[in-house]
Amino acid sequence: MKIITVGLDERSYNIHIGCGLLDGLGADCNRIGLKGTAAVITNPVVGALYLPLVKDSLERAGYDVRVIELPDGEEFKNAATLDLIYDAMITEGLDRGAFIVALGGGVIGDMAGFAAATFLRGIPFVQVPTTLLAQVDSSVGGKTGINHRLGKNLIGAFYQPKLVLADLDTLDTLAEREYLCGIAEILKYGACLDRSLFDYISEKSGDLKARDKVALEHIVGESCTIKGSVVERDEHEGGLRAVLNYGHTIGHAVETLAGYGKIKHGEAVAIGMAQIAGLSFLKGLLTSDDRNLIVKLIREFGLPTELPVFPIDAYLEIISHDKKKRDGGVNFIFNHGIGGFKIEKIIDLRTLLSDCVNQL
Ligand code: NAD
Ligand code: GLY
Repeated sequence: MKIITVGLDERSYNIHIGCGLLDGLGADCNRIGLKGTAAVITNPVVGALYLPLVKDSLERAGYDVRVIELPDGEEFKNAATLDLIYDAMITEGLDRGAFIVALGGGVIGDMAGFAAATFLRGIPFVQVPTTLLAQVDSSVGGKTGINHRLGKNLIGAFYQPKLVLADLDTLDTLAEREYLCGIAEILKYGACLDRSLFDYISEKSGDLKARDKVALEHIVGESCTIKGSVVERDEHEGGLRAVLNYGHTIGHAVETLAGYGKIKHGEAVAIGMAQIAGLSFLKGLLTSDDRNLIVKLIREFGLPTELPVFPIDAYLEIISHDKKKRDGGVNFIFNHGIGGFKIEKIIDLRTLLSDCVNQL
């Protein structure tokens, strides 16, 4: 098992990564001093697979366990579903002595984390991420929240968990498309922050496609270390943390234009990364060989790289409203070599998008 610490003074916590960890969840919660009732928040898909193990582990460690089951899907990541959590917590008589366990992917983790941040002005919570994407990204760093009808993740809070327990065995049951979306987020860390991780993914692509646990423990561990160190330096996204949005500005536009769910988040990010690699080449920040390496590695995992055909004005409309917009421009994260990045504010979005359309 790997243990990685995210150092944020009194809000520091450990990330446990390995196989067979769910069985020890209760004991781990004891070790970090969590007391009282454990409210496990999950959905029917994940609950059917892993709730018995989680419940048993918590009960063996002496916790009174309550289960709150939410409907599965991004379309339920909203205020109405959040209200279901509050309703259950209040009617079950839970108080500040309770803590939340988020058992599921990023949707459950973001919602359960936001409920923990806001219920009675904040109770502790533990992340038990069960998708690859959640293990390498959403469970780490304390971004919690829900969608609003006018946009994704617009309501939320920075609220760190007390523990993240990433059991790699849970990835065995994950659908292939979801698994590959997680790989896209790992490629993100390699492409703009860590050349050695990029090379490792390249060398071990066969093992990773086969979900080999040794390779997975390595890349999940490296991803969490990289994300943790970015969060330690810029918890509230004053600057540096924006690098984690590499590929996401174009990706988000693709996701929105295609209609949520048609192209999954990780697939859209893969397209965004390939486009940014091409733009970085045009800017002289990446050699053509390195651009080709990035695009080839994305394709190696069967992830898409081509920008879907929508009117350029539709792309412009979405990108110009992006959350990352500052002072009339939108901040883009470009490659500076593989494993390096450069943040640049782009004012002339039309030219940038035309360059995307004309490349590859
Ligand atoms: P998800 O939570 O919707 O999970 C994907 C699907 O896999 C769901 O149907 C889920 O029930 C199922 N599933 C989960 N674990 C499983 C398992 N072990 N076996 C079988 N099926 C399983 O999607 P996701 O990709 O994990 O997360 C996406 C969400 O994460 C988005 O809402 C996004 O905004 C958010 N996110 C947040 C951050 C952050 O920093 N907080 C970062 C990235 C993404
Ligand atoms: N997923 C981006 C972030 O946590 O900042």
